[in-house]
Amino acid sequence: MQSHLDSVLKTIASEEASAIRRLCDFLRIPSVSTDPAHATDVAHAAEWMVRDLRTMGFNAESVRTAGHPMVLAHHPGTGGSGAPRVLYYGHYDVQPADPLELWHSPPFEPQIVDGIHGKRIVARGAVDDKGQVMMIVEALRAWHAVAGGPPCPVTLMIEGEEESGSASLEPFMNEHRKALACDVAVVSDTGMWDIDTPAITTSLRGLCYLEATLTGPSHDLHSGMYGGALRNPINALASMIASLHDADGRVAVNGFYDGIPDPAPEVLESWKKLGFSEEEFLGGAGVTHAWGEKGRSCLERTWSRPTCDCNGIFGGYTGVGAKTVIPSKATVKFSCRLVAGQDPERIRQLVEKHLQERVPPGYTLEIHSHGVNPAIHVRTDSPYLKGTARALKAVFGRDAALIGTGGSIPAVGSIQRILGVDSLLVGFGLDDDRVHSPNEKFEVKCFMNGTRSHAAMLAEFGAMAT
Ligand code: BES
Ligand code: MN
Ligand code: MN
Repeated sequence: MQSHLDSVLKTIASEEASAIRRLCDFLRIPSVSTDPAHATDVAHAAEWMVRDLRTMGFNAESVRTAGHPMVLAHHPGTGGSGAPRVLYYGHYDVQPADPLELWHSPPFEPQIVDGIHGKRIVARGAVDDKGQVMMIVEALRAWHAVAGGPPCPVTLMIEGEEESGSASLEPFMNEHRKALACDVAVVSDTGMWDIDTPAITTSLRGLCYLEATLTGPSHDLHSGMYGGALRNPINALASMIASLHDADGRVAVNGFYDGIPDPAPEVLESWKKLGFSEEEFLGGAGVTHAWGEKGRSCLERTWSRPTCDCNGIFGGYTGVGAKTVIPSKATVKFSCRLVAGQDPERIRQLVEKHLQERVPPGYTLEIHSHGVNPAIHVRTDSPYLKGTARALKAVFGRDAALIGTGGSIPAVGSIQRILGVDSLLVGFGLDDDRVHSPNEKFEVKCFMNGTRSHAAMLAEFGAMAT
């Protein structure tokens, strides 16, 4: 196995330029899942993956769902029946690229540019998640070239709806339970500790996403004729939103924090040892001062505490120039990040109740849910996690950090519930990758080390054959 891995790593090194070329081809397909105008692009991205996987011995298909297609692919592996079955999950869809005017180059025309860590690839989806999916594909390609396939049976489930709520994922998984059966799942859709330090993520926050529209007057009004006579829906909605937090940065919804455990002292201790710099973290976001629950660090707040944040707000006149109007309606999109101990459905009800109790008399508040999913924790004592840690140490020459993340990946919960296995969250993004933002990038160094890590993980899993 070791001799194979050495050749696999050599192949990966010699393939660097063509691997980057392939990733750029993939990035050119604008697979924005939330926008119906891009539905055929999304389907093309799925077909592109299927074609590529077939060249390396995979039985691959783009499977239709009620929404966007799912890429499902299988390779029996070369390791015989005793080798553990590995399921890879990732997503080939991307976030919308706007605001377009803030990009230095068009979002779907990938550019290789110089940065502080060497070359980087700039494009929508570079790190989230096409670049990270392609690390897995390139590792599999190298194993195919050297040994005729990976040392374990491998299944890929690459979805096209992650960035828009994963509505088809669970129906698909229930229908294909047998094809997805596995001993371990691997997900590359998170980050590293820093560019030289790999990380295994052991907790993800959940999410409860709502949209609320407050309607007051039956139509827009002249603000001179009516201003001062009745409640302005934007002003009212603004104070309803403000009521969601108290002066100490806590969410002021009754019962919101019920049942949340404090992180274990040894977990807090291990986070402290990571040497997190709040100043650097905030600086990377262009901010000088932290904000949030008093008495807890930034790291603790983003990894283990819930939030409530507005994601969009609109109403009234938003065009150029001035228009004196009291609008009939105002809308806010907002979401709560959830942690262990919080039931997403209960949180949705509590937040809705909090807002409904604050609607001005005679006005109506319509609330629409864009989906909820719970927080996730993965076990840290599994042999697969230990094998992954060994693989990462071999590639990076240092121990992987065990970290949390504030983001959500709903599939990880579905894989736990439906397939009964934990996911290994091994990602290679950096904090400054501008995920979901203009000028998203992925460091070539991270892409290459990630590819090596996935190749080495396969060797570790193959060696666990019984
Ligand atoms: N890859 C991210 C999740 C992520 C973000 C992990 C940052 C680690 C660090 C994923 O694609 C994502 O954006 N998830 C959404 C989930 C939502 C659309 C249900 C999120 O976290 O907002
Ligand atoms: Mn992602
Ligand atoms: Mn994302």
